[in-house]
Amino acid sequence: MRTENAPVVRLEDYRPTDYLIDTVKLDVRLHPTATRVTAELALRPNPKGTPGAALTLDGDELRLVSARLDGVALGAAAYAVTPSSLVLHAPPQRPFTLTLETELDPSANTKLMGLYRSSGIYCTQCEAEGFRRITYFLDRPDVLSVYTTRIEADREEAPLLLGNGNPVERGEVPGTGRHYALWHDPFPKPCYLFALVGGRLDKVSQTYVTGSGRAVEIAIHVEAGKGERATYALDALARSMRWDEKVFGREYDLDVFNVVAVSDFNMGAMENKGLNIFNDKYVLASAEKATDADYANIEAIIAHEYFHNWTGNRITCRDWFQLCLKEGLTVFRDQEFSSDERSRPVKRIADVRTLRAQQFAEDAGPLAHPVRPAQYREINNFYTATVYEKGAEVIRMLKTLIGAEAFRRGMDLYFERCDGTAATVEDFIACFAEASGRDLSQFFTWYEQAGTPTVTASSHYDPAARTYRLDLAQRTPPTPGQAEKRPVVIPVALGLVGESGRELPLKAGNEVPLANGVLTLDGPALSVTFTDVPERPVPSLLRGFSAPVRLEMDLADEDLFVLFRHDRDPFNQWQAAQTVATRVILEATRAARAGQAISVDARLGEALAHFLDSRAEADHAFAAQVLALPTEADMAREIGGDVDPDAVFTGRLAVKRALGAALADRLAALYGRLASRGAYSPDAASAGRRALRHAALDLLAAGDAARGTELAVAQFAAADNMTDRFGALAVLAHLPGAARETALADFAGRFHDDPLVLDKWFALQATIPEAGTLDRVRELTRHPAFSMGNPNRVRSLVGSFAMGNATQFNRADGAGYDFLADVVIALDPKNPQVAARLLTAFRTWRMLEPGRRAKAEAALKRVAGTPGLSPDVSDISGRSLA
Ligand code: PHE
Ligand code: ZN
Repeated sequence: MRTENAPVVRLEDYRPTDYLIDTVKLDVRLHPTATRVTAELALRPNPKGTPGAALTLDGDELRLVSARLDGVALGAAAYAVTPSSLVLHAPPQRPFTLTLETELDPSANTKLMGLYRSSGIYCTQCEAEGFRRITYFLDRPDVLSVYTTRIEADREEAPLLLGNGNPVERGEVPGTGRHYALWHDPFPKPCYLFALVGGRLDKVSQTYVTGSGRAVEIAIHVEAGKGERATYALDALARSMRWDEKVFGREYDLDVFNVVAVSDFNMGAMENKGLNIFNDKYVLASAEKATDADYANIEAIIAHEYFHNWTGNRITCRDWFQLCLKEGLTVFRDQEFSSDERSRPVKRIADVRTLRAQQFAEDAGPLAHPVRPAQYREINNFYTATVYEKGAEVIRMLKTLIGAEAFRRGMDLYFERCDGTAATVEDFIACFAEASGRDLSQFFTWYEQAGTPTVTASSHYDPAARTYRLDLAQRTPPTPGQAEKRPVVIPVALGLVGESGRELPLKAGNEVPLANGVLTLDGPALSVTFTDVPERPVPSLLRGFSAPVRLEMDLADEDLFVLFRHDRDPFNQWQAAQTVATRVILEATRAARAGQAISVDARLGEALAHFLDSRAEADHAFAAQVLALPTEADMAREIGGDVDPDAVFTGRLAVKRALGAALADRLAALYGRLASRGAYSPDAASAGRRALRHAALDLLAAGDAARGTELAVAQFAAADNMTDRFGALAVLAHLPGAARETALADFAGRFHDDPLVLDKWFALQATIPEAGTLDRVRELTRHPAFSMGNPNRVRSLVGSFAMGNATQFNRADGAGYDFLADVVIALDPKNPQVAARLLTAFRTWRMLEPGRRAKAEAALKRVAGTPGLSPDVSDISGRSLA
């Protein structure tokens, strides 16, 4: 067992291993409670290591059965076994073979790390440090080995046996009722990419022919009877493979590619070589059971895991500090894929919403860390929005700064130079410095410095000289362990927009570099004077959200309306409307907090009315994004400190009601006009139409509860797809009364046997912003479909309550905090990773008003003081309180 006081691991302490493992031969005899693993490891001293050093292999919850060196049983004096290791005191200083036989219990594995059973299916999860729960090993990503795996199981229990690489052979074990399959993966890989699956599964498959003519059998395996629900994922996989060939020149490299969906999984999915394992939530889809958002997630995550084959697997990470090397880059790649498959501007807006909600929140609190952290206690806690989402933004900035062509050359160089290696972020950036001829040393700061930079902008127009001066400055607030901050390289994509909406010429008069409409702010401040500016411009800054920063500029509301109407950059159109809405909600929140009457500035409603009349039909998905107000959490971040979540809720709701009332006729007309016709299709255009229709209903219902209820009840009853049905239910969830409870009961009855659909039902009820919700959530923890053992159930009910219900989690009496603390303490011994993830709901606790802050702190301290905590929870509680 691991201990509570896990030591700090530091990047600066990296050194290569003293031994290498060139090949691994595994023989895994699957058994529900006593699985036997024989590992034959071909070891040799690492020329880069210390000669004569002891060999320490990692292990966790293993029982060692036997150990042999070059076929001879090891004497007791030759080695030592501890709960976390097997140490060979004096290994031979030449190549040698270590054969280790271990036994483990997959059924008792509730952590879902290593080999475990999920609904009777044997599966593995080895990233980051799970392989040590299968056999003793050098469990770190810079040890690359070629694996051959023999998997044996009862034929009835597990007719399907899958491993990494290509299938070699299969056969019976005579007279035992057992059979085996032999797999060989020719590509050297770190052990975190190892996987195997055994079980009774249905499959959908097709042949994919790569650009160079190689036939690959691609298959998705799901729980019996659910094959039909995997066809969308299979199609998304084929599209991902084609896209990576076209856009990055990357082909698949094995004869088969298998995806397996399991129902108990700690994360979204895992990119094991040739054998991706997925949380079934991100595979299974049907019109009746999945929403448009589910389809989009499936497409993105299928692509993400597939893209890892090159960015993560062929080129892996030297150590876990380099996690963003594979994750940030692969998120960037999947975002680009979705942008190409769907609508680029809408995808950008959705991604920026996520970035701000997750990463900006993380960066502004006690859990802030750089994209490449310099230290950790528990690596599981660094699969964060900063590593993933900000990591992707850093790649996007790199592309903006050096241009698309140099970016592609840099990627080509990276694939060529680093293929087959365990690389660092330095190796990666060096390829782009070379390909572009640019010095990227300052750019590297983005990887090393935590915190969200704030860019402030001010400007002056001189009509006589026809010049326009723009002053930019940057600063980054201190974060834990980093008091002083350096300036970062910020690409500011910009344009100047005339009053009537025309794009004004962009000529920098002074010596400031301006390329393709992008200014580079790399010092503390920058002044640019634009010449030949024919009229007073409205600046459109940070177009396309060209850098992950906060922008502060005192533009007049009227100027924001100009951008909303006319900016040629759709992101900034949307941003302008959001900025005005933020201002209006801030004022309403202030009034609510002060106990004053709330009055809502009518101009926002007028601007939206004009938008609905003139442009909503041009792009439904975009219009839906425009109608969606900033969330309560967005507002809390904007306020920054002394936050009263009840005042935010009241202020925001008042604005929503006012808009709903002011726009009622238009919204009703839009709602009617957009009614779905024909059979459900998950394509982007149809999804956009439904998204706008639901945004209209949501706003309409805020303005007129009776009318909203009536429409939502009708839509709920008539729906022939989950997007419409759940969309209606989500509107009803905010309208207390019998109609809501009837619809909730109907939904539960209809989908009682489908856990993934019930997850939506759990989540929705957990986010109802009413005083009774905590009791409802407590009650639901006793629902027959709920289980603390299943991560999806826990996240749906408890996670949604803690992360998606600002007023009820942050109840003034502290009961929401206490509930979360109780769940975390109870879950920790069973599944520390999921427990630790839940606990991050406290990451913004210091921004609260003093009463709630004290209650949150007390709950966190109660968790931190619990004896026997896992390193996972102990790390999060410790850092949150620091
Ligand atoms: N590497 C996985 C991904 O991003 C995430 C993951 C991490 C899954 C750790 C399981 C465990 O695609
Ligand atoms: Zn990933």
